[in-house]
Amino acid sequence: MKSTVAQLKTQIQRAMVAAFGADLADTDPMLVPTSNPKFGDFQANVAMSLAKPLKQSPRDIARQIVENLDLGDLCDTPEIAGPGFINLRLKTAYLEAQLKAMQADPRLGVARVEQPQTVIVDFSSPNIAKEMHVGHLRSTIIGDSIARVQEFMGHRVLRLNHVGDWGTQFGMLITHLKEACPEALEADSTVDIGDLVAFYKQAKLRFDTDEAFKTRSREAVVDLQAVEDTATKAWKVLCAQSRQEFQKLYDRLDIQIQERGESFYNPFLADVVQDLDTQGLLVEDQGAKVVFVDGFTNKDGNPLPLIIQKSDGGYNYATTDLAAIRYRTGKDGAERVLYVVDAGQGNHFAQVFQVAGKAGWIPAGVELTHVPFGVVQGEDGKKFKTRSGDTVRLKDLLDEAVSRARADLETRIQAEERQETEDFIQNVAEAVGLGAVKYADLSQNRTSNYIFSFDKMLALQGNTAPYMLYAYVRVQGIARKGGIDFDHLPAEASLHLADDSEFALARYLLQLDTVLEEVAQELYPNRLCQYLFELSQTFNQFYDRCSVLQAEEPQRTSRLILCDLTAKTLKLGLSLLGIRVLERM
Ligand code: ARG
Repeated sequence: MKSTVAQLKTQIQRAMVAAFGADLADTDPMLVPTSNPKFGDFQANVAMSLAKPLKQSPRDIARQIVENLDLGDLCDTPEIAGPGFINLRLKTAYLEAQLKAMQADPRLGVARVEQPQTVIVDFSSPNIAKEMHVGHLRSTIIGDSIARVQEFMGHRVLRLNHVGDWGTQFGMLITHLKEACPEALEADSTVDIGDLVAFYKQAKLRFDTDEAFKTRSREAVVDLQAVEDTATKAWKVLCAQSRQEFQKLYDRLDIQIQERGESFYNPFLADVVQDLDTQGLLVEDQGAKVVFVDGFTNKDGNPLPLIIQKSDGGYNYATTDLAAIRYRTGKDGAERVLYVVDAGQGNHFAQVFQVAGKAGWIPAGVELTHVPFGVVQGEDGKKFKTRSGDTVRLKDLLDEAVSRARADLETRIQAEERQETEDFIQNVAEAVGLGAVKYADLSQNRTSNYIFSFDKMLALQGNTAPYMLYAYVRVQGIARKGGIDFDHLPAEASLHLADDSEFALARYLLQLDTVLEEVAQELYPNRLCQYLFELSQTFNQFYDRCSVLQAEEPQRTSRLILCDLTAKTLKLGLSLLGIRVLERM
């Protein structure tokens, strides 16, 4: 099923060529949904932008396009409005047929891309032995949603966890482990080193206060790089412990991700340096090997170098990212690499991409994109912390969301004098609590800072997960009440749109494909949230105005189809945000 927008675009482009010649074959007709239904469904704004190059008035241009426009059964006769907008109104019969086709399609009318790409989503990427903090949670939630949308559109997606499992901080961790917990290093030891965050703090304290410890830590780094036995064993123990902790969180949040940490690229780092050197890009600067990047200066206005190899021979975060680019565009065959990482690392990626470009490591047609997001703030607008000023543990944060959702639910159950099982209560609380955390994050424009508020995210009204989940449940309630099986509505049933609210809902439903294409391209999941929110509102307006179960046929079945399509769209949309729906709540 070719999307309505795609069909309209093709037809307008043809009309432009017919009216003004083949030069316009690739000109975008600038087709957008109208802001007000009284202007129809879509407007094409291209006439305004053609006025200058064609040296004609936009209204004249619009008129000539319309004269050549063949819209078949799609639209009523187009109208020209204002300075030269071409307003298009879809024919009722066309809308009805589209909805019917949507209902019969498990993909709800969203076509797979014609040319699937290999897309890498680099997300989550916490650091071993350090706390996985709310910034990583944002990356995890946003990255997962972006990956889900890419997968749904038909791309081959590699979800990669670029875990920080290498670097000089391992010196002190290994040394501390060897000295404070040697049992953990014995063959097939089952010793649990426990809370790694506390462990990290102890190691750091010793490192900062004990010179001899510091020296031993530096030696441990050298040992690790030389793959010495004990150091390597200690490193593995630390990574394994962290991995276990991270995995619990991924499981709980239903996140699929493949670990490919920084250490994976170790064997390729020397080649990065070698190649940059051969190409004459490498410069010695105070003993370090660096590449000077354009457009970046320090505070004195001097060119800023990107350090590739430190004076002690060690490699950097940037070196690893360069090796990763080579591997991903080479071995993995990635055509698009999306780095879902906080906005604070914008310069890092701009520099690394520039160096990779200069070195010729970004094949033609391959796109590397930093997908930045803002910081998480508490309700006081400051950095997100617990009341006592500590960083918030992600497990505690999720637990609190679930227990608050549970408290809300229990209050309602009591007020409504319902009998519910413990399983039901726990299941609903998990879905609502975790859904709320995810949705709150995804519904913000990711580039802004984001204020974390349990009260806001769990509210039943507004652009929240509970609101959306309720809209879905409402439809399921209609089906239960009427004894309706949506999967077995009479095959010959068709749509009969009459009320304004039915038209409004129909138009919203048919925008799903456009919205998803946009999210897949622009990578803003909040666009999808906004759509689902407005769809829920439009549905609620429809449901307030139109009776469904009490309506006469053929209206009754037609309205049931609208209900079903709304529910299916919500379910699909929420699943692409990583949120599962409930049949009852
Ligand atoms: N581990 C890094 C951090 O916590 C994020 C890594 C992001 N991905 C990358 N390819 N650099 O800041």
